[in-house]
Parts: sequence; C-alpha cells; structure tokens
Amino acid sequence: MHKQVSNVDAHEVTRREFLIGAGAAVAAVGATLILPRGAAAAPIALPPLPWADGALAPYVSAHTIGFHYGKHHKGYVDNLNKLIAGTDLADLPLEKIMTTTAGSADKQTIFNNAAQVWNHTFYWESLKPKGGGAPPKDLGAKIDQAFGGYDTFKKAFIDASLTQFGSGWAWLAVKDGALRIVKTPNAENPLTQGMKPLLTIDVWEHAYYLDYQNKRGDYAAALLDHLVNWEFAAANLAA
Ligand SMILES: [Fe+2]
Repeated sequence: MHKQVSNVDAHEVTRREFLIGAGAAVAAVGATLILPRGAAAAPIALPPLPWADGALAPYVSAHTIGFHYGKHHKGYVDNLNKLIAGTDLADLPLEKIMTTTAGSADKQTIFNNAAQVWNHTFYWESLKPKGGGAPPKDLGAKIDQAFGGYDTFKKAFIDASLTQFGSGWAWLAVKDGALRIVKTPNAENPLTQGMKPLLTIDVWEHAYYLDYQNKRGDYAAALLDHLVNWEFAAANLAA
C-alpha cells in the first residue's frame, strides 16, 4: 500500500515511516492535541458547527455549509458508526479508531470514514467569521522563521492547496519541532504520520465548487484572508 504525504520539500513518507509515525503520533500528539469536538467514544457524534451556517458568507456560503456539513460530514459519521458497530473499535474514541486503522489495508474503509470525520471537525474549527489575515504575534514569528515571512507562507499554502492532485487537504503542521506545509490525499492527515496538525483547508471539490467552481486557489486565498482561525492554530501549537 502506497502512502504519500507531500510538503514544500516534496518529502515522501515511506510505509515504514508512516507506521512509525502513526505510533509516535498517538504517544506524542494524541494526548495533548486540542481535539475537535466530537472525539468521544462511539457512537461517534456529529459535532455541532462552531458558528451559524451563514456566518462564513460571502466567502463560504450557507448553501455550501449546508451540503458540506449536513450531507458530507454527517455521511462520514453515519458510515463510520455502521462500520464499527459490534466490533472492537466500537468503544474507542474517534482519534484512536483513526490511528488504529491507519495503514491497515483491510480497514481502509473504516480509516477513510473515521479520518474524514476527524478532518472535517478540525476544518470547521480552523475557520471563523472575521478571521484570516496576519497571524498572532508568536505564531507569526514562527511562520516568519519557517517560511521567510507571511506572504511567502500564504503563497506556499495556496500552492499546496492547488497542487494537491484530486481530493484532499492542505495543512499547517509541526514535524520535528518545525512548521511545515503539508498536503494529503483523500482522507489522510498529518496526525497519523507523526505530525501535529495546526490548521487545515479542505480542498475536496465539495468544499468550494458551489461558491468558486473550478477556482480552488481563489477559495484557498479567501480562507487565508478572511476566515482562518489563527487562535485555534496557536492553541494547537501550544498544546
Ligand atoms: Fe469536505
């Protein structure tokens, strides 16, 4: 099974690294990361949105949120609960289901649904009305240090969003103490690869097509300029 994570250095994670990372993530990250709401034991709940459906307009419409949250996110929750019912996974918290099934070929469908539940909850928390723009001082200093300035970071983050081939996610994450821009395909996320995610943008077409059609870069730029919840990212960094 081929696993790949890309970042600005186009680093490829081998299966061995992936499996080591998954274990390390549970030990080093899982216990302290600020988990999105809904990470309780099964049945896995669809957590409430942190804001009203229309609160992100005009950058993300209530129409998009209605489908994205009400159909896609809810669908992953419902699928996951059906898949784990009556199994050893049924009593585990969401994050543990995700890390337990990561890299397991015969549990790929369970992983995909669990990770998509987790990723979407993390995505909603990554956004807020009147967000975006320059990050707070301490996080901004780390971004400056890692990327050479906010503008360079912004350009690289939008580029990661644009160049994730097909469905996936763009992330700001920490690996080995350093900030990194990471892109992951489908349901993959940095947590199961030994990194600490700070912030994410969903780049599946369902996240932006109703509002931006094929202009994924415009969607990513709008989120960075107007909606990114830097306080959530900073809290995850400090956790
Ligand atoms: Fe999505």
